Amino acid sequence: MSFDLVIFGGTGDLAWRKLMPALFQAFRHGSLPEGGRIIGLARDDLSDDQYRALIRERFDQVDLAKRPSAQEFDRFAALLHFVRVDLSRPADFERLAGVLRERGADTVVMYLATAPSLFTAACEQLAAAGLNTANTRLVLEKPLGHDLESNRAINRAVRAVLAENQIFRIDHYLGKPSVQNLFALRFGNALFEPLWRRDHIANIQISIAESLGVESRGAFYDNTGALRDMVQNHALQLLCAMAMEPPINSHADAIRDEKLKVLRALKRWSPESLGQHVIRGQYGPGTIAGDKVRGYREEPGVNPQTTTETFVALRAEIANWRWAGVPFYIRTGKRLAAGDARIVVNFQPTPHPIYHTPIGAVNRLVIHLQPKDGLELHLLAQGQDGRHVRLGAQALTPVHLDLDFDKRFGSGRVGAYERLLLDVIDGRLNLFVRADEQEEAWRWVEPVLHHWRHEHSAPRPYAAGTWGPSAASAMIARDGHCWSEEC
Ligand code: BG6
Repeated sequence: MSFDLVIFGGTGDLAWRKLMPALFQAFRHGSLPEGGRIIGLARDDLSDDQYRALIRERFDQVDLAKRPSAQEFDRFAALLHFVRVDLSRPADFERLAGVLRERGADTVVMYLATAPSLFTAACEQLAAAGLNTANTRLVLEKPLGHDLESNRAINRAVRAVLAENQIFRIDHYLGKPSVQNLFALRFGNALFEPLWRRDHIANIQISIAESLGVESRGAFYDNTGALRDMVQNHALQLLCAMAMEPPINSHADAIRDEKLKVLRALKRWSPESLGQHVIRGQYGPGTIAGDKVRGYREEPGVNPQTTTETFVALRAEIANWRWAGVPFYIRTGKRLAAGDARIVVNFQPTPHPIYHTPIGAVNRLVIHLQPKDGLELHLLAQGQDGRHVRLGAQALTPVHLDLDFDKRFGSGRVGAYERLLLDVIDGRLNLFVRADEQEEAWRWVEPVLHHWRHEHSAPRPYAAGTWGPSAASAMIARDGHCWSEEC
């Protein structure tokens, strides 16, 4: 099967930091179908060779498991081409159409790795040049809009030129091996299903902590904030994976239908819950791994008086039979004490204790997403020699079963972008987000954005290198729970 993969924003940050390395890995693993071309588009005036040289130079700055040798890179580079395209010039799209027709590939993937404000114009130009044919697939990067209305406008523009099953909305968290394993844990094993409900689960915590700051993306981030950047998409997708019903099969729409039901069942915000169950924070100067780091307001590209949040903690509830009353806590932030993404399932305590158990010790399933990829099942055990000890007279000891997927399967597994790009080329939509899911997620976060806009207070400050504002711990403590690193 031949393919042309066209990258709008071919010289941009996403292209060289994520897409090219992922395509290179797929090439190296032998999983990129033969007979493909990767065509970078940008306004620059570059020849194919200049584009290859640019990508080669940038490869030195990215994280690749093993540096390519000159020969290996040259073999990959033979797939790379460049077409100069200015989104405002129809003639450039005609030229692109010529380049694509010349080859007549079975599949043409258009990857919009540009600012979302350009998505509508790009779609209109593609259609005007007749490039919205049945073998076209369109990939859209987040953020898709900055609120429900702008998201719907993009979806309308895209669907005016292509059918929904030709549209691949990326949420790279769905491509992570650890998230694949979360689906496998829930739907490839029967063990936890009977326990996976309100009768047995006290609360679920979804925590995506980053120790990095905003890096070179200050200007973008300052217009975005943590709620739009991480909660509306990655965190809610994780919540769906945890809370959805088993799909009837593994087809994309069967999965997406179930995720959509979760998003629709998210309890709507009331004035009280907006006041008590959402905490926003902003990092100030602090220390990360022994190094002093500046505060958010001092980051390049950031307005020194900004009130953009770099941290969000919130409590969600899912109003359905399985989950009614179970708090789902979501927390994400930049410049936190550790870069660590995990989901913690805290089970109910024993209904009638006959042992002494350490305070706060409960059965817990920790799903490590990154940097570790694995599962930990926390149990309580009798640590001492039991011969002379009466049942229940000694305190039990917390212990855990530990499964490390990197050790088990090797760390050379397929990365998120590699996986997702191969899925697009093969036309598999399972790991992509449908328009209605995305709109529902915006509908749920929008009242929070609205509340912040009208609230006369700023995000709570926290020092870089900590776990965020103390109010986030107070919020969860009011329910009698604690964040897993505090328990
Ligand atoms: C991106 C956000 O979608 O995800 C970034 O825009 C964030 O701000 C990144 O750093 C986190 O992804 P990962 O894969 O590093 O956890």
